[in-house]
Amino acid sequence: MKQKALVTAGTRGIGAEVALGLARAGYSVTVVGRDPAHGEQAVARIGDARFIQADLSALAEVRRLGERLAAEGSLRLLVNNVGGMWPHRWQTADGIEASFALNHLAPVVLTEALIGAIRAGRPSRIVDVTSSSIQVALLAGAPAYDEIESGEYSGMAVSGRAKLAHLAYTMELARRLRGSGVSVFAADPGAAATPNAAEMTPEILPAALREHWDQVRQGVQRPAAEAARSVLFAATDPSLAGETGLVIDSDCSPSDALAGALSPGLTAAVNALTERALKAAL
Ligand SMILES: NC(=O)c1ccc[n+]([C@@H]2O[C@H](COP(=O)([O-])OP(=O)(O)OC[C@H]3O[C@@H](n4cnc5c(N)ncnc54)[C@H](OP(=O)(O)O)[C@@H]3O)[C@@H](O)[C@H]2O)c1
Repeated sequence: MKQKALVTAGTRGIGAEVALGLARAGYSVTVVGRDPAHGEQAVARIGDARFIQADLSALAEVRRLGERLAAEGSLRLLVNNVGGMWPHRWQTADGIEASFALNHLAPVVLTEALIGAIRAGRPSRIVDVTSSSIQVALLAGAPAYDEIESGEYSGMAVSGRAKLAHLAYTMELARRLRGSGVSVFAADPGAAATPNAAEMTPEILPAALREHWDQVRQGVQRPAAEAARSVLFAATDPSLAGETGLVIDSDCSPSDALAGALSPGLTAAVNALTERALKAAL
């Protein structure tokens, strides 16, 4: 029987390429997205796939999705791909700043709902899609995570701050699941031409980096299929069997570059903030 994989935001962008690669590798893939027409197109392209509609910015909907899928039994692979960055601040229906909700809180809720199914699917993997935007967030020093928002809005830095929060969660989850047969990785796809990247304007950069806008714009011309490679590597490569807690960079190599800023204090602050935010939203 085919192994089951779940890819969030899997109907377009990097997620769709990851889903296609997983189907080619022999997985039966479930892709999650908002728009049924995009879902239909994705399934037609991927082949052995099914689409489930869910808005992952709504945390109760994420939890319901997780519970529904957990009831279906064991899961071999979860790819938490949903996320992104936006030039202007917006908030979700839960009243939460969108970067933090989509890059961090939604994948936490989904992962926790599915953890039993993923344990049952061992040897199984969880892959959290991360981003080098973390480095932009760190230009202002290590975030405190006292609150969801840290003051001035700059899309890339705000997204990087949320990705770093999620990386703290990923690394802690890897420690929690060590020896369980579940491997936990983060993978940085690198820049790519996707629907979210098409929304970028120079305002997404902190003022001090705006002179680099042309470079950023060129970076996001890269095909999404190329960006999917590091995620697929983390999800499937046999060389990672038995490994856990690694960050895979966009060249498909383990790297300390993004996790270097993590500390026990930062992780504790992220945990406390996450718990508070989820208690208020769910
Ligand atoms: N693109 C880059 O340059 C880049 C660089 C580094 C890291 N990343 C990371 O890679 C991941 C994927 O990025 P991407 O650029 O491919 O994203 P994207 O362009 O937003 O991906 C589009 C996919 O996301 C789905 N989606 C968006 N919002 C959703 C929501 N609220 N609920 C459910 N599905 C939703 C879309 O579904 P619908 O079609 O139904 O709307 C579609 O399937 C993100 O975690 C991002 O941070 C991207």
